[in-house]
Amino acid sequence: MALKKILTIPDSILRQKSLPVDKVNKEVKTLMDDMLNTMYEAPGIGLAAIQIGVPKRIVVMDLSKDPEKKNPMYFVNPEITWKSDLKSTYEEGCLSIPNQFAKIDRPEKCNVKFLDYDGNSKEIKAEGLLSTCIQHEIDHLNGVLFIDYLSKLKKDIIIKKVSKDKKETERVVV
Ligand code: NI
Repeated sequence: MALKKILTIPDSILRQKSLPVDKVNKEVKTLMDDMLNTMYEAPGIGLAAIQIGVPKRIVVMDLSKDPEKKNPMYFVNPEITWKSDLKSTYEEGCLSIPNQFAKIDRPEKCNVKFLDYDGNSKEIKAEGLLSTCIQHEIDHLNGVLFIDYLSKLKKDIIIKKVSKDKKETERVVV
């Protein structure tokens, strides 16, 4: 299983809309395995395929706090079928926006329809962190990032900071 490079802002690929998966075949499963490993290594609790440059509607997540008790979740073609009016607030971060966090309001509960790792159709009721996380990841599939919910000023500051850090890391003095 391979580790993939996670794209960071301002990479324009992150703004692409991902396409639905026709069938959960071997190739899709290998991609999900690679995504999960890349996410664990980062480390993060959620990753969308577009974050490793693959524009397919696939998300992996693991919200378990204990590294000994892994609980991987796979969502192919996830779709929100219902959202609560009630909102909850979490301080969100994103592997594609390193070291930046902001409080974001999202529906506290939602129902999500998707295909699982074996291609079976499922629907779950999500609340709390699971609800926030799956909404954050589905946003990625539509080219949306959490900074899009912030004021233009806050968003610009974050983009500038990450772009600057990125340049510094890439700088090589010989
Ligand atoms: Ni993210």
